[in-house]
Amino acid sequence: MILENLKEAPKDPILSLSAACRLDENPNKVDLGIGVYRDERGITPVMEAIKLAEAKLLQEQSTKAYVGLAGNEAFNTSMIELMLGDSRSKERAVGVQTPGASGALRMLADVIKSSAPDATVWLSDLSYANHAPIMWTAGLKVRYYPYFDTTTKLVQTDAMMDSLKEAGTNDVVLLHGCCHNPTGADLSFEAWKTITDMAIQQGFLPFIDIAYQGFGDGMEEDVKGFRYLADRVESYVLTGSCSKNFGLYRERAGIAVVAAKTIEQSNRIKTRILEAARSTYTMPPDHGAELVNIILNNPLLKSNWLNEVETMRLRVEGLRSKLASALRDKSGTSHYDFIAQHKGMFSVLGLSVEDAHILREKQSIYLVDSGRINIAGMQESQIDYIAESLLSL
Ligand code: LMR
Repeated sequence: MILENLKEAPKDPILSLSAACRLDENPNKVDLGIGVYRDERGITPVMEAIKLAEAKLLQEQSTKAYVGLAGNEAFNTSMIELMLGDSRSKERAVGVQTPGASGALRMLADVIKSSAPDATVWLSDLSYANHAPIMWTAGLKVRYYPYFDTTTKLVQTDAMMDSLKEAGTNDVVLLHGCCHNPTGADLSFEAWKTITDMAIQQGFLPFIDIAYQGFGDGMEEDVKGFRYLADRVESYVLTGSCSKNFGLYRERAGIAVVAAKTIEQSNRIKTRILEAARSTYTMPPDHGAELVNIILNNPLLKSNWLNEVETMRLRVEGLRSKLASALRDKSGTSHYDFIAQHKGMFSVLGLSVEDAHILREKQSIYLVDSGRINIAGMQESQIDYIAESLLSL
């Protein structure tokens, strides 16, 4: 019988952690699993700029009628502006609003599959836990390029470039625009230049995923490498998320962007994304996207928002250096100094799966099996406990 053969799905490696942590009765429990920002009270606040934009929307919105398949087109334009800035490729870039950046990843994967059914998507080793499942579900092959050096905890750029020499015209190379998830180890600007040359010479399609703009070195600095590439390669695809930098996690505001050789071709590809969206979810939710659009087009709200993101960024940077120095002081070694060099919300600590399980079971510290901790989710008062627990392994 249909349905009767189905067994329970394996638990999601990230989302299941929050649920498990909620049930844990240990008063010292620490949730370092899912990538959400928390303030010193342990709360993921609604940003002030969002509250103001919501008040404006409540006053001014006159209809809840459908938007089109591309979602909120004003949001698409504003997000392209935010991510591409002064990049010349803006003239040939088109966007489609999607339910979160995961929705964008899937829509772009579907379109790549239609264009090149045998294409292989190269992912960094390690990569975001949902990248491979999304690509596989769209019917694409996945291959990994060396990325995270487990000894230095930085990017192994030479090995990465060596491996990517094999990528050709039937390949897609997925790069994290900034704040690499899960490792925290980012590409240098030099590495972006090398990849750009390789894409031009070898003809692979760069696929950039930007989910944490503003959490690394700053809103503009974080996209410097991406914009360098965008201006030089013939075509690229891009995903963007408003979950973290607008704190709009549950509103699912994301975008898929395509920049082909000409704007005419980009527009043709856009119709393919809309076709894929129609047969999947039809159109994305509008609320979060409209808030982003209001903020990005109102100078006062925009400057409030930029300040708020900068405050979050600096807080995460501070937590990084405090955790690194607690570990240095307590261990008398520089083994964990890399935590202060990493960018964005996460760091991979180089722990085994067993270590992650021990931390969860014995200390009620919840982290992803890859050894990723969400620095942005910790409170200063928890740092000593986290450091001591890590050193007890
Ligand atoms: C994460 O990596 O924790 C976030 O991007 C949340 C998600 O969708 O997995």
